Parts: sequence; structure tokens; C-alpha cells
Amino acid sequence: MDVVIVPDDATIGALAADQYQKLLEAKPNAVIGLATGSSPLSTYAELIKRYQAGQISFAQATAFMLDEYVGIDPDHPERYRNVIHNEIASKVDLRPEAVHGPDGNAEDLEAACADYEAKIAAAGGVDLQILGIGSDGHIAFNEPGGSLASRTHLGVLTAQTRQDNARFFDGDLDKVPTHCLTQGLATIMSAKKLVLVAQGAGKAEAIRQLVEGGVSAKWPATIMQHHPDALVIVDEAAGSKLELADYYREVAKASGLV
Ligand code: F6R
Repeated sequence: MDVVIVPDDATIGALAADQYQKLLEAKPNAVIGLATGSSPLSTYAELIKRYQAGQISFAQATAFMLDEYVGIDPDHPERYRNVIHNEIASKVDLRPEAVHGPDGNAEDLEAACADYEAKIAAAGGVDLQILGIGSDGHIAFNEPGGSLASRTHLGVLTAQTRQDNARFFDGDLDKVPTHCLTQGLATIMSAKKLVLVAQGAGKAEAIRQLVEGGVSAKWPATIMQHHPDALVIVDEAAGSKLELADYYREVAKASGLV
């Protein structure tokens, strides 16, 4: 796992965008993974800027979302499909039909999960997946205590995650959905490259566990320690609990990552 500690969110966005740019230059029809939440916004802002400057194109790419709320109104602005459309897909040249997400409004949710796995496999798997991390260590909506070997499944959101996300629902916990469809940890681990971005002190403990803790279902993101090509990009606050921070800084410098 490579760990890069940078001074601010704009630098996080630039470094993560570099990964997409490198991939799309080498493989214009790459399969990219998109996450929602606030963590990837600086990356998306940078990708949009580079697209507008003619430096990057998604015209041949295919995109897969990580997760979706169950039973949310199709027009709700917080439905993840709508969030992804508004925050990135509609602002670059991604073809609308090339953006896929799990169907949280399907009648048969189990079949929707199986369909989603089949779609990802048929596309050849995800080349580059961007990830945020929850303060409880979840990635996508794989909450603590779930299987480290899970594939796309119906999940129950923890009280902590619903509370964290209430800010997107007028601060009203009752409006936050209780269930989701989410790529499983094994699905995420099947992506060829993972880039996790985190900002702020609220993520510091989750980042410490992710990078330096033991691999455990209690901190689901720790499974990334087993990924052969995982990059973690954090700001100073999110990296503030890392014991080996000085070492990561040296390695990142020596390897030209910063
Ligand atoms: C969203 C997702 C979640 C978020 C996590 C962090 O698709 O998969 O795992 O990445 O909840 O959320 P933010 O980025 O809002 O702090």
C-alpha cells in the first residue's frame, strides 16, 4: 500500500486525477469506478478541469458506481445515480449509457446485485476505483462486521453512517435511508487499482486502522492491505494518527509520488 500525505484537498484531487489521466491515456476505453460522498469531490473537480482543458477524455470509458440507497425516490438529489450524474458524469464526456450503478429500486434486490456483478465482469472488471472511507472504516457501504469476502449485496447502514450522511438529508436522520446495495469488499478488491482519498481529522482513526491496523472485519477498509496496487492519499489531518508518517513521506518522495 502506498501512502501519500499532502498539505491540502486540492493536492489530493490533483494526485488522484493523475491516476485517472494516466489510465485513460494508456487505455481510453478503461473501466473506472466512481464513489459518492464528499471525499472524491476535489478529484472530480480536477478531472472536470482537465476535461475542459482538453487534457482528458472519458468518451470511450465505462463507469461503475460503488453503491446506491435502497428505496430512494428516483428523482431525489441524493440518489447516488443522480449525485454521480450531477457531480461528474454530466460534466465530462462520459456517455450516459456507460454509467452503471446497482438498482436500489429493483423489485428483486438480490437479482439486482447478481446483475451488477455480471455487468462489471462483462465489462472486464474495474481498472481504477476511487474510494472514500467512513469514520467507522467502511468502504462503499461495507460496514464493520460484514464479510471480508462479500460481493455486491443488500446492506444495512449503521447508525453512525446514517448520522454522518444526515447532512445530505436536511440534517434529518429519519430521512436517511436504512438500506443500500453495495459492491462487496471482494468486488472492490477485484479492481486492478484502488485509490482511497481522505480529508480531515474525523477520518484520522479510520486511516490509522486502514494503513497500520490489523486486517479485520471491524475496520472493513483494512482488507485493502491485501491489494497489490492500492494508493492512499490523505491530508495532514486525516494522516495525523499515522505512526509511520515520516517513513511514508520519504517513500512517497523517493518514488516520485509527490
Ligand atoms: C460512497 C461511499 C462511502 C463514502 C464514505 C465517506 O459511495 O461508498 O463509502 O465514501 O461514506 O463519505 P464522505 O466522502 O462523504 O466522507
